[in-house]
Amino acid sequence: MSGVQARGGTLDFEGLQDLIDSHYRFQLLNAAVKLDLFTLLRKPANASDIAQMLGLAPQPLVMLLTGCEALGLLVQEAGRYRSSEIAALALVPGAPFDQLPLVRFADEVTYPGASRLYEALLENRNAGAEFLKGEGDTLYARLDSNPAAAAAFEGMMGTVTRHVTQRLMREIDLSAGGDLLDVAGGGCELAIALVDRWADLNVTVMDLPRVVEEARDRLLTSGQGDRVTLAAGDVFSADLPGCDYLVIAHFLEIWSEERCRGLLKSAAQALRPEGRIYLINMVRDDSGKAPFACTASSLYFHAIASGEGMVRRWQVYEDWLDGSGFVVERRVALTPMHGLIVARRA
Ligand SMILES: C[S@@+](CC[C@H](N)C(=O)[O-])C[C@H]1O[C@@H](n2cnc3c(N)ncnc32)[C@H](O)[C@@H]1O
Repeated sequence: MSGVQARGGTLDFEGLQDLIDSHYRFQLLNAAVKLDLFTLLRKPANASDIAQMLGLAPQPLVMLLTGCEALGLLVQEAGRYRSSEIAALALVPGAPFDQLPLVRFADEVTYPGASRLYEALLENRNAGAEFLKGEGDTLYARLDSNPAAAAAFEGMMGTVTRHVTQRLMREIDLSAGGDLLDVAGGGCELAIALVDRWADLNVTVMDLPRVVEEARDRLLTSGQGDRVTLAAGDVFSADLPGCDYLVIAHFLEIWSEERCRGLLKSAAQALRPEGRIYLINMVRDDSGKAPFACTASSLYFHAIASGEGMVRRWQVYEDWLDGSGFVVERRVALTPMHGLIVARRA
């Protein structure tokens, strides 16, 4: 792809055309993934063999193959096509950097939701959640009535959380043991990793009732059911149980300042003296500069997830912690877009 960003923010006509065509870029990738093209082409094959294996007519096949080649997803050598390196690493089920859950989530949720971005900006609300049936105001409430979108959300979140958790485990030490509360802890991905690593740690995961029910089976399979407790509740109104450590991961970026400050105050009350809070968020650097991926995530929080949130600067979270009964101890970049802030009770 000729990169709009690679031109340092200046846009030429070719870049503009790329923007206008960007829906076809994603939809071609999406179609290729649904056809499992990149698994098929781990071994090179010629066009007529591919047509036969996929059951595609000659014209659509030409579009698929030439399009995927132009996007860098396929390589053609001596009349035969094979998956490019990145496609083989990330777009084959079970591949080392399997990103398929992110493609599925984009297909099920982001793509249809983003088509209401104009209304979402104009009306300052998450109009993009309305394509999902149901009554709730947020994406999370509507997932209850939309099983395919809920499964896609869980898959996407699992992929993101696994990646960030690997880095997080190198930055924290919970070997002293005790009770950890994972606020809006989702499918227990982090909770299971934490109790697997630290034998004297017990974790409570609080999340919405459907999410907690769905996590139960995963916990049983993990064999860690006795050290991870599930608590169904709305974290903005529930009493948070007392704990030695409190994690809020991938959550504050969804909500308004008012809600976040309220939650941090409840967290300070739940935390025992000497306790630590670990905030894991998408962050922008303090200069306010951000890669487009940050803006894309902000648009998702605003236009689809809640209509309240965005990716904020490190300093914003640190100020909120300061004002909510915490003393910030350190900040650590976990990935180019995710940061950890550690604070103790004041
Ligand atoms: C982006 S996910 C993060 C999940 C988890 N912390 C992680 O890092 O994988 C947001 C989570 O917040 C949960 N959630 C949304 N609103 C909530 C509320 N009011 N109370 C409790 N959980 C909520 C959702 O069900 C979802 O699991």
